[in-house]
Amino acid sequence: MALTSDQAVGMLRAAAEPTRLRILALLAREELAVLELSRVLGQSQPRVSRHLKLLAEAGLVERFPDGAWVFYRLSGAAPARALTDQTLALINPDDATLELDAERLAGVGEERAGQASAYFADNAERWDEMRVLHTAEAAVEAAILEAAGEGPFQRLVDLGSGTGRMLTLLGSRAKASIGLDLSRQMLNIARAQVAAAGLRACELRHGDILKTHLADGCADLVIVHQVLHYLADPAAAAAEAARLVTPGGRLLIVDFAPHDLEFLRAEHRHRRLGFSDSEIERWLSLAGLTGFQIRALPPAASAGLTVKIWGATRDAARVRLIA
Ligand SMILES: C[S@@+](CC[C@H](N)C(=O)[O-])C[C@H]1O[C@@H](n2cnc3c(N)ncnc32)[C@H](O)[C@@H]1O
Repeated sequence: MALTSDQAVGMLRAAAEPTRLRILALLAREELAVLELSRVLGQSQPRVSRHLKLLAEAGLVERFPDGAWVFYRLSGAAPARALTDQTLALINPDDATLELDAERLAGVGEERAGQASAYFADNAERWDEMRVLHTAEAAVEAAILEAAGEGPFQRLVDLGSGTGRMLTLLGSRAKASIGLDLSRQMLNIARAQVAAAGLRACELRHGDILKTHLADGCADLVIVHQVLHYLADPAAAAAEAARLVTPGGRLLIVDFAPHDLEFLRAEHRHRRLGFSDSEIERWLSLAGLTGFQIRALPPAASAGLTVKIWGATRDAARVRLIA
């Protein structure tokens, strides 16, 4: 949909201010909370919030509350996104101000990654007990088995495989499997678990879900179980997971429905407090997946969390037609 001239002027005005341009450049890298933007920009939260309000009113950014935090991302609407992308593309990639912001953002990201990595290293031994704290694990696993289908699968890829629970749950249905995780402590435990379960063709790799180095369409079953809520860029991780799904194959994302257990951020390094169906569906359809199925699993106790299983497939017939 094209813009009216008033809308175009509103967007140009909003973008035509140094801090707001810097904010747009930062949000082009990843979705960010006000606190994080304020740290990178070196400006107070109220000041940054005022800039964000103007950008949101002009339709250049979207605001989404997540528990007590509010995140911002670039607008997904075509004209607004095109205006932002084209404006940023005109700027010299070596621009000193934006380069410094990118470095500061990388610093914030590294700090977060360091805290998450220490958390997983410290908790690897206890992870199997901790996983069940807020969920009805048996019901969730039964639903995952059902959502995956009987197979047999040529290759299962489990991204953020942790102690290997999804590999031992689903591995017997796959001829080969790969588990990938950023934590070497988690991988060590997974190796022992996978061996104890007698899964022979199961490879455990150290790697980042955002850059798996696995080939396009290498798996007919990809699972991302309780990983996205730790990530700075869950949309990019979902796109990378979808990229691995072969035509006719299936992706399962298992995570929490939106919730307000704010302590999970401070004590357990969660970044996002759950995901909405529409957010996950948008990511998966952008990545070319269809046939969405959603299952909701209520918590084991009243203070627990609802687990969601979002399933989608890469349509083999459609891929043939496009090709
Ligand atoms: C909550 S655990 C879930 C593990 C497993 N999927 C399960 O359900 O038991 C999250 C796992 O994601 C891994 N992880 C976090 N960020 C990652 C990243 N960027 N790339 C790969 N693994 C990551 C952590 O090391 C951890 O093992």
